[in-house]
Amino acid sequence: MSLFEKFEKTAALYNQLSDAGMNPFTVVMETVLGPTRAVIRGKETVLAGTHNYLGQTFEPKAIAAAKEALDKEGTGTTGSRFANGTFSGHKRLEADLAAFLGMKHCVVFSTGFVANLGAIAGLIDPAEDVILIDADCHACIYDGCQLSGAETIRFRHNDPESLDKRLGRLDPKYKGKLVCIEGMYSMYGDTAPVKEFAEVAHRHGAYLLVDEAHSFGVYGAKGRGVSEADGVMDSIDFYTGTFSKALAAIGGFVASNHKELEYLRFSSRPYKFTASPSPATVASAGAALKVIKETPALKEKLWANTRRLHAALTQFGLRLAAPPAPVISVLIADRETAFAAWNFLLEHGVYVNMAIPPGTPGKDSLLRLAVSSAHTAEDLDRLVAAYGALAQAFPAARVAA
Ligand SMILES: Cc1ncc(COP(=O)(O)O)c(C=O)c1O
Repeated sequence: MSLFEKFEKTAALYNQLSDAGMNPFTVVMETVLGPTRAVIRGKETVLAGTHNYLGQTFEPKAIAAAKEALDKEGTGTTGSRFANGTFSGHKRLEADLAAFLGMKHCVVFSTGFVANLGAIAGLIDPAEDVILIDADCHACIYDGCQLSGAETIRFRHNDPESLDKRLGRLDPKYKGKLVCIEGMYSMYGDTAPVKEFAEVAHRHGAYLLVDEAHSFGVYGAKGRGVSEADGVMDSIDFYTGTFSKALAAIGGFVASNHKELEYLRFSSRPYKFTASPSPATVASAGAALKVIKETPALKEKLWANTRRLHAALTQFGLRLAAPPAPVISVLIADRETAFAAWNFLLEHGVYVNMAIPPGTPGKDSLLRLAVSSAHTAEDLDRLVAAYGALAQAFPAARVAA
């Protein structure tokens, strides 16, 4: 029995797609031209699968802040937050994020993935605690549960009643209970009923962790996520987020009003045993945060673009996963058709994400479009034209008549 036998089936599909020049998982941005354009396979392409929701990858203030930090503090920290990798910039950003969210504490991690690993595994003792997670949670939340070693119970996606039942049936032996959900889910672009979840979790004496990776900067009057839009920022025990989407950098964080969050700085292995984000990264994320605070027009533009695209795709009869949201997924039942449809879009000058089961919530494959405030009228026209052609060429992508 070889170590590699288990890869053979996936490798065969991967190689078959690559040989046909159709592999969505080997895309290279050959030249990046701006927040919504790059050269892919030798051709200028509209980027609509980058989660650059507020188009901040080329934000001049973020670039200037990063350049200054690079000049003053060098290319990297060469150490973890726990040792030599905490610079004044990391502390400043923690304070800025906490103030923005209206929370007392914030801990910055190296990525959003690591922030969830670090929060969950750092807070939980497998001998006495239990975790309940929404079935559609991101891989890093699942991995955080696994890393914690605690019993993990799934409840039905976006179903507070299902959570209520599971909490009601719990063995009283558990001391601590942690419920994990997301704000906006990245596969379908659907949002959680955070208010209902907070009510159910707290009624049972559980803590609520909300991952707002995709909704930070995007939902809520101030851009504080679905928790803000639902009016329950004060009820969130642990708020996790990433710098890699609306903040257009790399890094992650956990914020809370519980002073015990600070314990993560010595209890959390993903905090202690990996290098901290570079000074330039931290500086650009801080500058991008300031832009979010000062420029609500970015969020408004994102939503205007979202409404236009969602309406156009609906009009083409495409089978969409959710009501208007900055992630707009077209569902296609057959995986081979989905690969062909994804390539069709690329040939029409449009890059979107492709997702296939088991990485998707259901049995369908997805063409996942991420809208940006930086999409220009011309970008939107190209997207609409490409999806219009797709709807004609692939009846399988349409709602059954
Ligand atoms: C819900 C969710 N949480 C966390 C992450 C991880 O964020 P990062 O890219 O910063 O590791 C992602 C990434 O896509 C995500 O979708």
